[in-house]
Amino acid sequence: MILSCAPLQGYTESPFRNALHYYIGGIDRYYAPYIRFENDGSIKNKYLKDIHPSKNQGIPLIPQILVNQADNFLRLAKIIEDFGYTHVNWNLGCPYPMVAKRKLGSGLIPYPNEIQRILEEVRPKTSLKISIKIRAGYEHYQEVQAVLKACSSFPLDEVILHPRIGKQLYKGTANLDAFVQAQYVTHFNLAYNGDITDAKTFEEIQLTLPQTNHFMIGRGLLMNPFLASEIKSGSSLSPELKREKLRDSHEYLMEHFSKTLSGEAHVLHKMVSYWEYFSQVFENEKKVFKSLKKSHQLGEFRIAVERIFNEETLK
Ligand SMILES: Cc1cc2nc3c(=O)[nH]c(=O)nc-3n(C[C@H](O)[C@H](O)[C@H](O)COP(=O)(O)O)c2cc1C
Repeated sequence: MILSCAPLQGYTESPFRNALHYYIGGIDRYYAPYIRFENDGSIKNKYLKDIHPSKNQGIPLIPQILVNQADNFLRLAKIIEDFGYTHVNWNLGCPYPMVAKRKLGSGLIPYPNEIQRILEEVRPKTSLKISIKIRAGYEHYQEVQAVLKACSSFPLDEVILHPRIGKQLYKGTANLDAFVQAQYVTHFNLAYNGDITDAKTFEEIQLTLPQTNHFMIGRGLLMNPFLASEIKSGSSLSPELKREKLRDSHEYLMEHFSKTLSGEAHVLHKMVSYWEYFSQVFENEKKVFKSLKKSHQLGEFRIAVERIFNEETLK
């Protein structure tokens, strides 16, 4: 079984991947948040930095792209190949209206012929393995089925399906029936993604999807960085060891952002955004998050974090 870390723009970039991989573990494969072109055709340096091999040493990483034209696909594929990667993941899932209304991400799902045309053009021109990460549809849960049929003649390495629709954003729940229906119409081995938040939920999903051997976890890893290793080992580390690993990985992130972000306010903002999820590893999650959110300065934040690691009970 493969457990992978989902791409989450703003969260699972290289600092988080390094912290998770080297302090905690349990993940077999990481997908980088998407790279895309700006309106003027440029690529933000931060995207390229994030997948640069020097920032991902020893980490099994698959870069992801957000494009809707073959030439843009190939331009990004070339950069990815030049960095030494052998695999690119195509984002057909991003639900945000600003993206989707430009026929990018989940906005391209209702146009299976365009997806097919892009694959026809790029497949012979890149040696990278191509996989896609897709939602069940933009408006309807069946839309993915037409995409799978349109792609059936391509040697896609993998299809990762998050069975929500684009219009849903992150509301409601992932629709397991839609996943099973999609499995019926395709010869591709579908990887599952969506709402794996704890080991029990994982077991239930795995029971419903016995043919699936790749599960991708996103927010669940931010809420409990030990989730993948707990699923793999079937057991939990001692609270003392967990605390130590959390403290070390947190220190790694703090140090990284203190060096790379300009000004304490940015570091504080970044760390608090992580704690919106991290706080859920503690029983008293609301109190934990509240105590950090009210910090005005990094020093204050550090003291609050230290108190949490020393005093709060882990779930
Ligand atoms: C803040 C945020 C950023 C995301 N960024 C990306 C992204 O760059 N590429 C992508 O394919 N999916 C992205 N996703 C979607 C996740 O990869 C994943 O499909 C989704 O969160 C469902 O999985 P989960 O329930 O395990 O989190 C993002 C989700 C969130 C909440």
